[in-house]
Amino acid sequence: MNDPIRVGLAGLGTVGGGVAKVLHDQARALSWRAGRDIRITAVSARDARKDRVVDLAHVPFEADALALAERDDVDVVVELVGGEEGIARALVERALRGRKHVVTANKALLARHGGALAALAERHGVGLKFEAAICGGIPIVKALREGLISYDLSAVRGILNGTCNFILTQMEATRQPFAEVLAEAQRLGYAEADPTLDIGGGDTAHKLTLLTSLAFGTAPDLDGVRLTGIDRIAPADIAFAGEFGYRIKLLGVARRTPNGIEQLVNPAMVPASTPLADVESSFNAVAADAGEAGPFFFQGRGAGRGPTASAVVADLVDVARGALGPAFGRPAAELSTPRRESAEARMSAYYLRFQVLDVPGVMAEISRHLANELVSIESMIQRGRAPGEPVAIVMITHEAQHVAVLRALQAIGASGRVVEQPCMIPMEAA
Ligand code: NAP
Ligand code: HSE
Repeated sequence: MNDPIRVGLAGLGTVGGGVAKVLHDQARALSWRAGRDIRITAVSARDARKDRVVDLAHVPFEADALALAERDDVDVVVELVGGEEGIARALVERALRGRKHVVTANKALLARHGGALAALAERHGVGLKFEAAICGGIPIVKALREGLISYDLSAVRGILNGTCNFILTQMEATRQPFAEVLAEAQRLGYAEADPTLDIGGGDTAHKLTLLTSLAFGTAPDLDGVRLTGIDRIAPADIAFAGEFGYRIKLLGVARRTPNGIEQLVNPAMVPASTPLADVESSFNAVAADAGEAGPFFFQGRGAGRGPTASAVVADLVDVARGALGPAFGRPAAELSTPRRESAEARMSAYYLRFQVLDVPGVMAEISRHLANELVSIESMIQRGRAPGEPVAIVMITHEAQHVAVLRALQAIGASGRVVEQPCMIPMEAA
């Protein structure tokens, strides 16, 4: 048997604690799979005295996580602290420069600095692995980097955030308010330290950025993602979606178009009869279109201790076996700079909801603004009539230019008879 591979583990929270537990509980099986023992030789966290899911009292504790990158008894640094900058970035950079492999679940860091970090890893001849950064337990990085290597992908799209999918599914099933369901997702360990990253769509954007790079061979381009979160989705929208035969899902979509690469994150109306619509709770899914080779669909748990720790450990086993390879599947210098598809080119059908005063002429006013922008209505519902109270008018449009719908909604929102900002959700094709 080869010498053990020695792990410096930074972060002992939801994921880091899970990794320590898997390495402890599955030590024999992992040693057999990796061809050598995988041994934690040092750890770091904020609080040395906190109880962890596994006893680490015998393992040296570094109060300063950066010290892990300097230790002679560490071959691979596992970064599970999180954050785009700060200690996480400093630790990963220092480890790579010190010729230590890095395994991380930190999509925020990689979406922003992935190109430079991949180049740094190559320069120093070490691995940079991030299976856990996209969709927790789904082995989508491996699938895109290795399994689907000979396919020319035209699009990837998916449900990439467990917290949002959990919230939308629970709101639909239980009619519980948004805040209560979010608190439950936090308790279950799905949510980010700052949950606005989940519900605002930022976490999905991080993962989409990495998926785009793996699928299309482009450098990570986080600023190229157009982003809308789920924070404005009301229970009424979820109920109306059901009436029209749809479910609302937060989707990340990346497409190769004749004009460049389009990266979108937004809540979308997904036809109820499609596999994406059936993805429930904290499950994630990724669908890839590979032209004549046909569609692929991956589904699994995208958040929480067990699935995420399992992905980190899979990377550790690869590192232990010496299965390294470039971080994004091709040398960093070969990652092209993506040309961004223009917002003007975007076309879709839309679900629109207006909360209006129930007075004569309001429907005509809405229709006029939509017609002025050449937005045509396919179907419509008006509900609720308590005297003096606002009512909902809900429409589905035919395919229209995104910017034209935005202009129409701006004009409609300015009307004194419309009592809140209109809601606009694109319809996802079946
Ligand atoms: P977490 O539960 O908040 O754990 C963070 C850990 O980092 C804690 O152990 C904390 O120490 C430690 N830490 C914070 N600041 C530190 C510092 N300056 N030096 C050393 N340690 C420090 O977070 P998590 O959910 O495990 O997430 C970790 C990473 O995995 C993030 O990048 C996240 O985006 C990613 N991720 C999470 C999930 C998930 O389902 N949770 C899924 C996929 C990816 P204390 O425990 O002492 O406070
Ligand atoms: N907060 C993330 C989610 C964790 O809810 O999907 C997994 O990346």
